[in-house]
Amino acid sequence: MRLEDKKAIVTGAAAGIGLETARRFAEEGAQVVLSDIDGSAAAASAAEIEGGVAIAADVTDQGQVDALVAGAIEAMGGLDILVNNAGIPMLGTVETLAESDWDRELDVNLKSVYRTGRAVWPHFKAQGHGVILNTASVAGLTGSAGQASYGAAKAGVINLTRCMAVDGADIPIRGNCICPGFIETPMLLDYLADQDDPAAARAQVDAMHPLGGIGRASDIAGGFVYLASDEAAWITGTALTIDGGLTAGI
Ligand SMILES: NC(=O)c1ccc[n+]([C@@H]2O[C@H](COP(=O)([O-])OP(=O)(O)OC[C@H]3O[C@@H](n4cnc5c(N)ncnc54)[C@H](O)[C@@H]3O)[C@@H](O)[C@H]2O)c1
Repeated sequence: MRLEDKKAIVTGAAAGIGLETARRFAEEGAQVVLSDIDGSAAAASAAEIEGGVAIAADVTDQGQVDALVAGAIEAMGGLDILVNNAGIPMLGTVETLAESDWDRELDVNLKSVYRTGRAVWPHFKAQGHGVILNTASVAGLTGSAGQASYGAAKAGVINLTRCMAVDGADIPIRGNCICPGFIETPMLLDYLADQDDPAAARAQVDAMHPLGGIGRASDIAGGFVYLASDEAAWITGTALTIDGGLTAGI
């Protein structure tokens, strides 16, 4: 097993990529705390996972984040891996986005990584190792229409990952992120359902991925297993694109 005896927190773990990552980590021998702003959904997800523990936390609240990290260390007897995966989409251009939506997006998707990072850092430093993994997006690599705040937040996640990698290298704390293409999760299905013609929107998004259609949460979870494992001991500061070829060319 690739994560035997490792102890991990996954945020945004009640659904989608976070839930699948927690499931795969457990299959690889890790103990996992599933955290989400939706505590009852996180509890239901944790109940499906061998040894899974749920701790509700809103990643925009430093007090709740600190309590999450302390609670996870107590519940598992330690902590080796943090996966910052919680995220929300806010659609709009600089012309149409309300300032409150811009602020909310940056808070949930970017500042949260700073908050959880500072919560785990003293523990990782004291024990002399730790892994921080972040869910970024292809929207952080290229411009995307109508995603001004989402794209800015995800680009920020990619470079914050690199900064943490540099700052943590002598400990070592490794920091890496994944840039997913479109993945079939509740977030994407809600977005498609909101379109004027959901079937046409789905076909259009499918066609953007040369390897054939929208990806699965397991495509991303597999990347996180690798980056969390000792197989990736010499990888830090990377942004691993897993997107079915979406950004490979035109
Ligand atoms: N689905 C995609 O196509 C796609 C593509 C690229 C990147 N991503 C990123 O992947 C991550 C997971 O997305 P998903 O598609 O699985 O979405 P999802 O909506 O299915 O899951 C996201 C989870 O985050 C939780 N969450 C939201 N706000 C929170 C907060 N303030 N504190 C704690 N938890 C909170 C939600 O309750 C939810 O369970 C996000 O960061 C998203 O931006 C998704």
